Amino acid sequence: MGTKLVAMLVMMVLSLLNGWYCLGCWEEENVALLHLRENINFPDGESLSSWVVNETATDCCRWESVECSNTTKRVIQLNLFNIRERALGDWYFNASLFLPFRELRNLSLNSNQLVGWIENEGIDRLSKLRNLEALNLSWNSFDNKILSSLSRLSSLKYLGFQYNYLMRKKISNSSERLFGLTKLEVLDFNGNDDISNGDILSILNLNDFINLKELDLSYNQFGSSGTIYGVSPEFIIYPYSLLISFSCALLCMSRSVPVILLPALPYH
Ligand SMILES: *[C@@H]1O[C@H](CO)[C@@H](O)[C@H](O)[C@H]1NC(C)=O
Ligand SMILES: *[C@@H]1O[C@H](CO)[C@@H](O)[C@H](O)[C@H]1NC(C)=O
Ligand SMILES: *[C@@H]1O[C@H](CO)[C@@H](O)[C@H](O)[C@H]1NC(C)=O
Ligand SMILES: *[C@@H]1O[C@H](CO)[C@@H](O)[C@H](O)[C@H]1NC(C)=O
Ligand SMILES: *[C@@H]1O[C@H](CO)[C@@H](O)[C@H](O)[C@H]1NC(C)=O
Ligand SMILES: *[C@@H]1O[C@H](CO)[C@@H](O)[C@H](O)[C@H]1NC(C)=O
Repeated sequence: MGTKLVAMLVMMVLSLLNGWYCLGCWEEENVALLHLRENINFPDGESLSSWVVNETATDCCRWESVECSNTTKRVIQLNLFNIRERALGDWYFNASLFLPFRELRNLSLNSNQLVGWIENEGIDRLSKLRNLEALNLSWNSFDNKILSSLSRLSSLKYLGFQYNYLMRKKISNSSERLFGLTKLEVLDFNGNDDISNGDILSILNLNDFINLKELDLSYNQFGSSGTIYGVSPEFIIYPYSLLISFSCALLCMSRSVPVILLPALPYH
């Protein structure tokens, strides 16, 4: 009797699993990808045309720009670089589109004409994705209001934020800063010219980023460098543990790329 019950349970579990796995990827993620495609293409774009369900294309893990975990079959990477068609204009971020991807580690949304987000659907809601390690928002049009939202994404190790403010040409005037992010290892803040005419620390709480290994501040116009980890970058030489690119950061006298390297931090 007991064995029969166990066997029945096993059969039930198997048939359930079969229901989930029949498309190769998880049904909820399959649906979420289709919603995402619809949103990216709104109102009449044609990107990601291979994201369809038909007799031959059943496994969404094999769709372009999607990578799944080999073990759980959940989506772990979405590489959506330059997907939104230019003619469709501005795109507003909607966090709910990404939350079904519970194991997402790496999200690239660079070059997609993102300008902001719809109400209550901001980037900060991605903090629910506990595994999110890499976020690339480069070459969009976010202004500095995004910095405190990004500060909520405490699992991030990589943040790509090249050329955002520049494209908006908006003179910033806000107390928004990027802070926290103690796991951050790489911050690419290259090319955010038009907000950064104050001190570096007025925008980036660099002292919080205790695991930072690489910081790219090229093509900004920070008026002064502040003191990072209590050391003024102008005087920093050997030995190297943190790589900072300051091309055109200080006073912007030339377009050359002097690389300034920080000494090993005492608390590393
Ligand atoms: C199924 O979709 C793929 C694109 O992912 C397409 O190449 C193929 O022709 C489609 N097959 C059918 C039967 O519609
Ligand atoms: C998944 O499997 C493929 C093929 O066996 C392998 O190349 C790839 O590295 C694996 N990916 C992960 C994340 O383990
Ligand atoms: C945001 O995305 C979710 C999930 O697809 C959707 O239900 C919701 O309607 C979207 N919100 C707006 C304002 O488009
Ligand atoms: C995230 O994905 C992009 C595109 O495949 C890749 O270039 C990058 O190295 C990945 N980042 C991390 C931290 O894995
Ligand atoms: C992030 O996007 C920028 C701009 O497209 C690209 O240059 C950079 O290599 C990307 N970062 C990663 C880790 O792929
Ligand atoms: C920036 O905001 C402060 C406080 O709101 C204000 O006093 C100042 O005039 C503003 N500066 C510019 C350039 O708009």
